[in-house]
This record gives sequence, C-alpha cells and structure tokens, in this order.
Amino acid sequence: MKNNIEKVVDKLLTAKFVVVFTGAGVSAESGVPTFRDKDGLWQKLKPEELASFDAFMRNPDLVTEWYSHRRKIMTQVQPNPGHYAIAEMESLFEQFAVVTQNVDNLHRRAGSRRVYELHGNIERNYCIKCKKYHELKDIFPDKAIRCECGGLIRPDVVWFGEMLPEDQYQESIVCATSCDILFSVGTSAVVYPAAYIPIYAKRSGAFLVEINMNFTEISDIADVVLIGKSGEILPKIVEEFKKQKTRIA
Ligand code: OAD
Repeated sequence: MKNNIEKVVDKLLTAKFVVVFTGAGVSAESGVPTFRDKDGLWQKLKPEELASFDAFMRNPDLVTEWYSHRRKIMTQVQPNPGHYAIAEMESLFEQFAVVTQNVDNLHRRAGSRRVYELHGNIERNYCIKCKKYHELKDIFPDKAIRCECGGLIRPDVVWFGEMLPEDQYQESIVCATSCDILFSVGTSAVVYPAAYIPIYAKRSGAFLVEINMNFTEISDIADVVLIGKSGEILPKIVEEFKKQKTRIA
C-alpha cells in the first residue's frame, strides 16, 4: 500500500502544471503569526478595527502602527524550508505557479518567480489620494504618514470589504482551472473569494492535495490530506519526487 506522500508523488510524476495555493500557515514556521489559530491575530484583535478602510480613516495612527509592526516582523524573518521547497518546484514542472493569500513576500524572497498575490504585499505602500507608491524600506512609522500631495499613505494590502486585485485574481483562476495538481497549504480556506481557488481546481478535475496542521473546510473535497507542518512535508515531497524522477529517467 502506498502512503499519502507516495500517492502525491505518483501524481506529480505525470503532472505538467502544478499550482500551490498558500495561506498564513506556510509562514508560521518563519515566525509570522497566523490569523485563526489558537494564538492567531484575530483571537486577540478585531479585524474590523484594524483591517478595513473605515478603520484606517477612523484611526490612521493605530492602523499605521499595526501594519508597521507586522511589516517589521515580516521583513526580519526568513523564508522557511516550505517556501524553499515551493520555490524549487518551479524548476521541476513544465508550468508552475504560486497563488498566495500572504502579504509577507516570503515566496519571492525564497526564489519563487511566478507568484500571484491575492491579498497584496505589505512591503508596498501607496497614497490613497494620488495613488503614488512609497518606498518605506527600514521605516516603521508609529503614526500615520502623508504623501507630498497631503494624502494618507496606506499599505498595499486587501482589507475586509475591498476587492481583490483583478489581474491577480483572474490569473489565479486560470491557474486553478487549468492545473493538474493543486496544493492547498497552510490555509483555513474560509476567506472568500480566495478560498474559491482550491474549489475551482477540484471542479476542473485537478488532483487536490491539502497540507495543514489540522483538517479544514476543504479537507472533505481533497484527494489527499497531509496533516503536519508544511516546512517538513513539502521538502519530503520534493525529495521523493526527485528520487522517483531520476529512477524513471
Ligand atoms: P488562517 O490563520 O485562517 O489559517 C492558517 C492555517 O494554517 C490554519 O488552518 C492552520 O491549521 C494552518 N497552519 C498553522 N501552522 C502551520 C504549519 N506550520 N504548516 C501547515 N499549516 C499550518 O490564515 P489564512 O487561511 O491565510 O486576509 O487566512 C486567510 C486570510 O484571512 C488572510 O489572508 C487574511 C486573514 O484575514 C486578509 O487580511 C484580507
């Protein structure tokens, strides 16, 4: 009897297009807090007071300080073996894409090139008035800051009630509906429309693999569920795949 990792590797051996859909859990081993776990951000803080445009307009100092704090954590941590395994996968298949809900930029820092960011990127900031982008590298303000035009500067992330970046979402749907295998990694898969990605993949006939510490909303539709840390499971899959591939070649 094949174990679950072997089943996944078997599928990968004939796959031409592989997509990895990620959430906060993939960065947990780097030290970035998740949202809905026991120690997750949304257990202690209210999203409506921090992660919406209304919240920003009501209290720009507080929201700016909170995003500075998160950006500082995210720029100081390093990608973990899960990010690196995903980056290595890009060179192993004819087509490969990462679709992420994370704003931490760790996939790119690990070397992934084709990355669709559904919820934006915390390293980018722009003026809400003139839309100019501002580089805030190594600057972590604890109060709201303004552009030369007088407009408030906000992080380029998607807040509750806002639309996803249209180009990123459309490309992600194309990936989900045309891939052979989709991995859903470290996400509770409860925030829509991002959470449609694994569902679209499954409906379009892709083999759906979930990697998570726990069962989630999409575990029932997954073909294989691997319970554990993504930073441990993903490198095992890549190693086993490379071993099998050389055996066949
Ligand atoms: P969540 O915090 O909802 O879920 C994190 C998931 O990662 C959970 O299912 C955990 O079990 C799992 N997990 C934790 N550590 C893990 C590890 N080492 N290996 C594998 N899995 C692990 O985070 P997301 O699903 O990303 O949106 O949340 C989706 C969106 O909700 C976020 O993008 C953010 C948030 O509000 C916005 O800010 C718009």
